[in-house]
Amino acid sequence: MDLCKEALALYIFKPVKNRMQKKKRIFGAIPLLVVISCILIAFKSESRLAIKKMMEEPGRIGMITPSSRALYKHMIRQILPISSNTETLLVELGPGTGVGTLLLLELGLSPDQLLCVELDPELKQYMAERFPGVQTILGDAVNLQHILGDNSGKVTAIISGIPLKNLSKKQAIAIIDKCHTVLKPHGKLVQFTYSIKPPPTIPGFKRTFGGLVLFNLPPAFVWTFTKVE
Ligand SMILES: C[S@@+](CC[C@H](N)C(=O)[O-])C[C@H]1O[C@@H](n2cnc3c(N)ncnc32)[C@H](O)[C@@H]1O
Repeated sequence: MDLCKEALALYIFKPVKNRMQKKKRIFGAIPLLVVISCILIAFKSESRLAIKKMMEEPGRIGMITPSSRALYKHMIRQILPISSNTETLLVELGPGTGVGTLLLLELGLSPDQLLCVELDPELKQYMAERFPGVQTILGDAVNLQHILGDNSGKVTAIISGIPLKNLSKKQAIAIIDKCHTVLKPHGKLVQFTYSIKPPPTIPGFKRTFGGLVLFNLPPAFVWTFTKVE
């Protein structure tokens, strides 16, 4: 009987216990890795600003670190090819610290073909200093038609980082509606969200799922709205 107990302890219980301890060690290291990543990210000035803004106004900012380049690359892919002709006009809503702006310029877009609308004064100032050639307007996307003036109806594409999910459905629809108004026919709005539920849409906008980007904190869903009428 004792021999049987010893065999059970040696061949069943001990290996299971060892495996559980190993798993515990692995899972226990995850919070530490998250903290280390956050500290590393915080060394970048745009990350420090993003974290500061998030602490001040979590609802409006809707991010804990700047969006990843992978996310913005994926969003920009939805509007490629971007023609270099003078008629091209791109709008960025809620550029934050300028992750998307930098990518668009790296792609060869001329700074005067890009217009950014940012609600937060400090982020607007940061954008103006980081990208002096790009016009960044301090304003609310809900006033997009008014902000664009004569350029309303001439916009080729809009890249939006606005945290729509933090707004009421009415506010989100008001912004989507303004985007529809300022776009030219077949123009596109690209929006990311952190929720699996798609953002609302309106008649005249065809909404399609653009994919899930895992390499972002948190992973993000990309949606494309095409102006069809
Ligand atoms: C989730 S962050 C995205 C920022 C950018 N992707 C980045 O990583 O730096 C949202 C941005 O949208 C801006 N924002 C929120 N509501 C807005 C509105 N109604 N009009 C314009 N910008 C807005 C915030 O100030 C913030 O900069």
